[in-house]
Amino acid sequence: MNNFTYQYPVKVCFGDGIAKTAIASELVKYGRNVLLAYGGGSVKRVGIYDEVMSVLKASGKNVTEFSGIMSNPTYEKVQEGAALAKENEIDFILAVGGGSVIDCCKIVSAQAKLSEDIWDLEYGKGGQPKEFIPMGAVVTAFGTGAEMNNGAVITNEEKKQKSPLWGAFYDFAVLDVGYTMTMPMKQVISGAFDTLSHCMETYLGSPRETNLSDEINEAVMRNVIKNMRASLQKPDDRLARSELVWAAAMAENGILKLGKVTDFQCHMLEHQLGAYTDCNHGQGLAVLHPVLYRHMMPDANKQFARLAVEVWGIDPSGKTEEELANAFINALSAFIKEAGLPTTLTEMGIADTDLEAIAKSTIRTGGCAKKLTDDELLSILKECI
Ligand code: NZQ
Ligand code: ZN
Repeated sequence: MNNFTYQYPVKVCFGDGIAKTAIASELVKYGRNVLLAYGGGSVKRVGIYDEVMSVLKASGKNVTEFSGIMSNPTYEKVQEGAALAKENEIDFILAVGGGSVIDCCKIVSAQAKLSEDIWDLEYGKGGQPKEFIPMGAVVTAFGTGAEMNNGAVITNEEKKQKSPLWGAFYDFAVLDVGYTMTMPMKQVISGAFDTLSHCMETYLGSPRETNLSDEINEAVMRNVIKNMRASLQKPDDRLARSELVWAAAMAENGILKLGKVTDFQCHMLEHQLGAYTDCNHGQGLAVLHPVLYRHMMPDANKQFARLAVEVWGIDPSGKTEEELANAFINALSAFIKEAGLPTTLTEMGIADTDLEAIAKSTIRTGGCAKKLTDDELLSILKECI
């Protein structure tokens, strides 16, 4: 294993029906002025807003609302939130939503304490914010595991770049399985596939020999596949949902990444696809993964072959490493179809976009088994059409 130091700052409150009590007991630790952040209105439709608001009121908080955070949150929306936070002297941010709301608030929390533009600070000067407004996350859509880390994926529309910015860790994350039961099934599946993708992107990093992190990762991947199948069969299966919610957090709480340099090349490509098309994150990954993986052969064959056997249950007897690597990619493709996820960009309605610009602007990652050129990324995108 590579050397590492492990310490984790996020307190996790996990359960079914625990949100009200968990939020109330955490809120007492913070000041009066709370920014309540949420997305496009699902929380109001399903009753989560009323429940959270009742806790805030009972806790004597003075609430400012920051609403309308869109999927693939924009830098402009971050600035709107930061201005609101400054103007209302916000002491604490409560983010109620999925990865988009949770990510947006990480950067709001930092930008509100900065006198300079955070994009310029991080990308222009290579700096990092040091001061933050404390935050809590109430997860209503699982999958990204965004509540567990301090990276936020923000779309800078002006620069045509959907890129990570580094903000604060949440002080606490409330994972109430009940809150996720109203998610549309399509989002359940694309969110769970995002979790599987995070696991694979971590697993495929270096070093390429198995370590303890990889073996734990294999268990998480098997669990996600099993519980996606259970959820497809029975959408209201609360046990399957609870496992998926925790698996999403496990994939991003650092445990699987210990001693590894992660890959995440597929994510970087998907993020740029998102910058140009505003597509659904998990669906974009589903289209890209098998095609990208075929291009990563033979460099990643050893890890692909291990995935075939340990995660997809393929019998290795009589098979070469290359045959097993192919069998893994075939199994992954078949599963994507079985889950009803899209397999082409055309299916996602985004065939007509500037693929060349997407390829060129994609960040290349250090942990990827293959160093991909602009031309190869373009070929991958073209094969996805
Ligand atoms: O906006 P509302 O009306 O709330 O509707 C949302 C949204 O349309 C809806 N929803 C959420 N909770 C619901 C619900 N509908 C019914 N019942 C509920 N309980 O679900 C839709 C999707 O929400 P969103 O937050 O956009 O999805 P997701 O959680 O997949 O987050 C995607 C964002 O996270 C980033 C992605 O790039 C994308 O921008 N990621 C963040 C990561 C991180 N910080 O670690 C890692 C990921 O790789 C990912 O890149
Ligand atoms: Zn992801």
